Amino acid sequence: MFLLTLASLFFLSSATVRASPCITFDANWNLLAFGLNGKDWNAGTQDTWSSSTAATDITASNRPPFDAANTTCYLSQYANAIYTINADSKNPSSVYIYNAAAKSWSMQAVEAGSFDYTSFGAILDHDTNVFYALSQGNLFSLDMGLLNAANSTPLNWVNDEQAPYPSGYVPVMALAQNHIHFLDVPSVPAGSADIFVIHYSYFQPQPQAYPLSDGSTFPATYGQVTSFFQADNTVQQEFAFIPADSSATYIINVETNTTQALAAPTTKDSKATYFAGVTALVQLTSNGTVSYLPYLEGNTSTNTAATWASVSNLATAAPPSSSSSSSSSGSSGNASGTHSTTSPGSTTASGATLGASVQYSILVTCVLCLAAFVV
Ligand SMILES: *[C@@H]1O[C@H](CO)[C@@H](O)[C@H](O)[C@H]1NC(C)=O
Ligand SMILES: *[C@@H]1O[C@H](CO)[C@@H](O)[C@H](O)[C@H]1NC(C)=O
Ligand SMILES: *[C@@H]1O[C@H](CO)[C@@H](O)[C@H](O)[C@H]1NC(C)=O
Ligand SMILES: *[C@@H]1O[C@H](CO)[C@@H](O)[C@H](O)[C@H]1NC(C)=O
Ligand SMILES: *[C@@H]1O[C@H](CO)[C@@H](O)[C@H](O)[C@H]1NC(C)=O
Repeated sequence: MFLLTLASLFFLSSATVRASPCITFDANWNLLAFGLNGKDWNAGTQDTWSSSTAATDITASNRPPFDAANTTCYLSQYANAIYTINADSKNPSSVYIYNAAAKSWSMQAVEAGSFDYTSFGAILDHDTNVFYALSQGNLFSLDMGLLNAANSTPLNWVNDEQAPYPSGYVPVMALAQNHIHFLDVPSVPAGSADIFVIHYSYFQPQPQAYPLSDGSTFPATYGQVTSFFQADNTVQQEFAFIPADSSATYIINVETNTTQALAAPTTKDSKATYFAGVTALVQLTSNGTVSYLPYLEGNTSTNTAATWASVSNLATAAPPSSSSSSSSSGSSGNASGTHSTTSPGSTTASGATLGASVQYSILVTCVLCLAAFVV
């Protein structure tokens, strides 16, 4: 029985992946959290985040189950639409579209071709609404038109060209001024980025330096990046870079070619994801805690004094630790039973996946009784 159980556990743990929620903004700067404790939430604009009144449940039909690993969300500011990649383990190449005005979901079929959706970095270009992604050493593009709902014609990831970067480079890809900035490219010095000029499909041969005012540099290391939007719907000019060790928050300005160092995230989490709006940088940690750093473009004194704070209305709606009752109650049964925590024996199930882990325990329990029955 023991062996049988071990075998079953192995099967379960290898066949499942960790579900991941994602955070984003709509074009009116409402903070949205998808797949957090099995539901989707609208936390409203920044002035309401410190409220203890729970964020609004916007879980709607035709949503993706948010049961895949490494889910990513992108805002199309023109279309006021959110595009999600890796949100449905059963339709892994599809892009789900959330129409933020209509609060409705649809699934856009996408032919992946040679694009590897399990290993890529991507940005959604502001002006063209085209995704650019680096995957397995090649630059791909996916033209979203101005879709705010799925089209019946499948779209295609197009393999545009080989990138001039060493094989094995794990992309850290940020967008500003229609230029893709690649950080942590091997042999590029700390504090510099390699650039791809979107409108000319041109890999600039020389790296661009973005020094801090004291002459120091951001580190040449893996991390997370996200671009600040402009309220007037023009191109992004700045992006945040948070090294994987969460040791600082760097804001790179591609107009002035400078970098500011702001407060490091309070929660150090190498698996945290980030999304910037116009006046805030938001962090989602792997246990579902959401925090933000207020930001005022061009106001260095305010920015250097800013500190991270909790998005309280999301914590009220989808608490990181006490979510088991709500997410295992069956009212969030849209979450599929195939996601799991990182390890079957884990007693520290993270809040964001607690619902899944409860389902997981039920599965394991069933396996145990089956095993007992068989033996
Ligand atoms: C799944 O989501 C839909 C849309 O919100 C909802 O109507 C339905 O009740 C949900 N199902 C469960 C089991 O929660
Ligand atoms: C998720 O991302 C991690 C880190 O990049 C990677 O190792 C893993 O293969 C990805 N998993 C899937 C299923 O895409
Ligand atoms: C910043 O760098 C870009 C790209 O190298 C360059 O075109 C631009 O002139 C620089 N701007 C300033 C203010 O130095
Ligand atoms: C920076 O922001 C503070 C607080 O909002 C404001 O009082 C100050 O005038 C701003 N400074 C600049 C240069 O915009
Ligand atoms: C989530 O993780 C952070 C950082 O590791 C930790 O401070 C916090 O207590 C955790 N929250 C819960 C509810 O486990």
